[in-house]
Amino acid sequence: MNQATNTHPHLSLPDMLRRRILGEPLQYILGDQPFGPLNLITRAPVLIPRPETEHWVIKLADRLSSTSTRPKRLLDLGTGSGCIPLLLCHLCPPGTLHTHGIDISPHAIQLATDNAALCKIPTPSPRSLHVNSFRTTLANFLSPTFSDDVNLSAPYDIITSNPPYITWNEYLELPRSVSDYEDPKALFGGPSGFDFYHSIARLVRQKGFLNPAAVVALEVGHTQAKRVEDIMRATGLVHSTEIWCDPWGKDRTVLAHF
Ligand SMILES: C[S@@+](CC[C@H](N)C(=O)[O-])C[C@H]1O[C@@H](n2cnc3c(N)ncnc32)[C@H](O)[C@@H]1O
Repeated sequence: MNQATNTHPHLSLPDMLRRRILGEPLQYILGDQPFGPLNLITRAPVLIPRPETEHWVIKLADRLSSTSTRPKRLLDLGTGSGCIPLLLCHLCPPGTLHTHGIDISPHAIQLATDNAALCKIPTPSPRSLHVNSFRTTLANFLSPTFSDDVNLSAPYDIITSNPPYITWNEYLELPRSVSDYEDPKALFGGPSGFDFYHSIARLVRQKGFLNPAAVVALEVGHTQAKRVEDIMRATGLVHSTEIWCDPWGKDRTVLAHF
């Protein structure tokens, strides 16, 4: 890169190079990351949106746009930068989607709120009925009292989540540019990697949590799809499932149709 292509003039090139040489991810140095047609703010330690997530979210937006008969309510568990609900709000027809992002990290909630403002996605209000909306709540969805503590908009039509799914052994092998900069809470999914999927299954089994014909879309680690499919089927409420591959041919998203 030379001065002519430095689009972040507030940072000096030597500073940027020094931080990059120390292993800091480029997206934290530059402060943004494209996600579909959006350009989202990135700020450590909130997880940098990944291309495999972008891929399934665009596919889900196509699916939702073609089946939208009435406004739908969506809950995003572990929203991070807000990338999943914000891209869906941007791509789906106006007034068809009202989204709610949950995260345990105050840094994530602040970043998701800043990204919503940047993308011009408003919080819900009587005046925002004809546009798509996004709101956030700081909360722990593993807590047994989650549904009582949070002012949810259940029943939901769609649940999305890219939960932490890395096992302890995988965590120890991550490149330093990930483990030194991105929040461990965004990555570590419990000893087996499946803790969050079990919690999501417990939530969606609760009476009144989902509308009839709801869809649950979960990003998974590339070896986890079959097991996550089984966890969802074990709710006894799923009538069909799909597994979507990422652009590199790896199983990446489990869709459960309720
Ligand atoms: C893998 S990141 C995904 C972030 C974003 N959805 C994305 O796809 O880039 C998982 C997110 O879950 C959040 N998280 C972890 N444990 C949580 C919990 N118990 N309750 C709520 N959010 C949690 C983390 O803070 C992190 O932002």
